[in-house]
Amino acid sequence: MINELNQLRANALEQLAPIGDDRALEQWRITFLGRKGALAALMEKLGTLPKEERAAAGKLANETKAALEAAFQAKLGAVKQRALSESLESEPLDVTLPGRPRPRGRLHPATRNLREIYRIWRDMGFQVFLSREVESDEMNFQLLNIPPHHPARDNWSTFYIAGSEQGVLLRTHTSPGQIRAMRALSANGTQPLRVILPGMCYRYEQVSARYEIQFNQVEGLAVGRHVTFADLKGTLTEFARRMFGERPVRFYADHFPFTEPSAQMDVQCIICDGAGCPLCKFTGFLEILGAGMVHPQVLRNGGYDPDVWSGFAFGLGPERIAMLKHSIEDIRYFWGNDLRFLEQF
Ligand code: PHE
Repeated sequence: MINELNQLRANALEQLAPIGDDRALEQWRITFLGRKGALAALMEKLGTLPKEERAAAGKLANETKAALEAAFQAKLGAVKQRALSESLESEPLDVTLPGRPRPRGRLHPATRNLREIYRIWRDMGFQVFLSREVESDEMNFQLLNIPPHHPARDNWSTFYIAGSEQGVLLRTHTSPGQIRAMRALSANGTQPLRVILPGMCYRYEQVSARYEIQFNQVEGLAVGRHVTFADLKGTLTEFARRMFGERPVRFYADHFPFTEPSAQMDVQCIICDGAGCPLCKFTGFLEILGAGMVHPQVLRNGGYDPDVWSGFAFGLGPERIAMLKHSIEDIRYFWGNDLRFLEQF
């Protein structure tokens, strides 16, 4: 047995040496190392040996197997390497072939638009304050002068959190962040404040080209000792100028329970320049935000004394603004994840 194993090994290595291609190598493997190969046949015989010889023969059989496998691997590497250098030398390499383009990711249009809005407000001295998306009824409504059963609640169709007995909800606007920002940043109503509060809001709406159940808002809040309605108009006009370029704006009386007086701001239609078109419904103007002077009770709820402090606030819809700037006619594109839309930005 010992002899046979040694012979097999010598024989196998001798035959392996001259091999230079895949096929012959595979044939060699089958002959010596295969399941029905020479080595397997010998190993099968191990069991028939007398006990005294079995251990030594078994050990040698295993060593033989390991040696042949190692030799096979080494040869395999050499054969592959040779095939590669041969093909590199013989096959022409066309360096003028166009490369394979890699698809590149990019920022979502809503994110890019938000960042532009942040930049404009930052340049005007407003810091970003992140408030929460899940709110209490108290923050979202009551502290903003909208008690339970107030008719103004109809303006904000609300998603309530199940099991919270209507106390917890998804914020319907970013305005509750006004209270949180005042309480967090004003040091008990002793510090002036200029913040924007961006983020997702949720409304229980029939989804359509104009309404989504989720959308971003950017709230703004400025509180100081002598903040007037003129500051509101001047600041918002300047924002529109930086966002849309030189074009007229106009303010309209509006109503929100948490501002007094309240206003709506329009910019001249960016499609027809005021001549009238379907986008502006032939009014020549587009509404871009709601705003107003912070209601004294809201200032109080935020920790400020309204006899000393005043402020203005606004809320704008960034998706609406992006739609106007890029003539996007359906708000559902924003969260529809359709690459044909996203790749245009
Ligand atoms: N929160 C209001 C809305 O969602 C917008 C607004 C914000 C109005 C701040 C005035 C002041 O419609």
